[in-house]
Amino acid sequence: MWEELARKISEKTLLVCRRSGEKIPYRVDGQGRFDDLSGDNISWWTNGFWAGSLWQVYALTGEEALKSTAAALEKKLDAALMDAMGMDHDSGFKWLLTAGADYTVTKNPASLNRLLLAASNLAGRFNPKGAFLRAWNDRSGEKAGWAIIDCLMNLPLLYRAAVITGDPRFGQIAALHARTAARHFQRPDGSVEHIVVFDPVTGERLGTRPGQGMAAGSAWTRGQAWAVYGFTLSYLHTKEPLFLSCARKAADYFMAHIPASGLIPVDFAQGEDCDFEDDSAAAIAASGLLELAAAAGESRYRDAAEGLLRTLSEKRLELSPDTDCLLKRCSVSFHDREHNHPLIYGDYFFIEAVLKILGKGVFMW
Ligand code: GLY
Repeated sequence: MWEELARKISEKTLLVCRRSGEKIPYRVDGQGRFDDLSGDNISWWTNGFWAGSLWQVYALTGEEALKSTAAALEKKLDAALMDAMGMDHDSGFKWLLTAGADYTVTKNPASLNRLLLAASNLAGRFNPKGAFLRAWNDRSGEKAGWAIIDCLMNLPLLYRAAVITGDPRFGQIAALHARTAARHFQRPDGSVEHIVVFDPVTGERLGTRPGQGMAAGSAWTRGQAWAVYGFTLSYLHTKEPLFLSCARKAADYFMAHIPASGLIPVDFAQGEDCDFEDDSAAAIAASGLLELAAAAGESRYRDAAEGLLRTLSEKRLELSPDTDCLLKRCSVSFHDREHNHPLIYGDYFFIEAVLKILGKGVFMW
């Protein structure tokens, strides 16, 4: 089944690559075609995912069009590297999947340069009093003490920079942030907060915000998936048992809350009468669970990952060549007006996870 699925999603990705030119997509339009953020929204956090998908399928197929398009998109992101207020904590998402993938595959020095510029900027967001990486920017300073669970996925940019440069500060900052996430984001039941607010002057934890989830104390599913994958990645890079234990707890919580349908809601606390779904949370969790299964040596995590991917491929996968997306029902945030639509990162993590099952693709984190 997995070989066949990998072949189908690769064929579709190649076809969409050929007709999309140098678009940097986020969502699809009414005709099912990718939009393009490379004009006026070059700093958006999702702008690395399409290139990441192209690199994954290139690793499987060796099709040159995928590689050359990914390299062109990476170059377009140079404008984002020059946008100081657009450089937030999401540099890992943007440059690990573009410059990082390129450097892994080709050893291109321009890609290494981009990777290190992005890593230095991310390291500069560290607040030493609270031991966290600041999330978003604002001019008022109101968000100077905000940190979010998603940031765990950006830490490999720092871990990688430490190895490449031989400068341990990058890895120290990443591990300090991950320890803060373990202490201040994860609840006793294994679920995690989306946003934790610290006093940026004293470092004191002031409280939480529901962020993209339903309410204070609820469990935004993509945030739970970032925790499963993100803590696992910090464990892979540091071998600190704390991070493996956090990843296990997050994974056990996630797996215990998968509904009978196998489809993932936007928030695990939403009522059964609410049909908001997030296929991206399912795909991210699946890829993270596969990594955790290998790190922890526990096959139940792989079984859960395969279950999530099988459900997505049976119920939510769009293989028609008439649309550009793969997964049909993702959601940005519980309180958005729109739900259950394609999002580029859902597709990226689905491709990554399916290829990972086969031992194929590129490890970008
Ligand atoms: N990192 C933002 C999100 O997951 O929507």
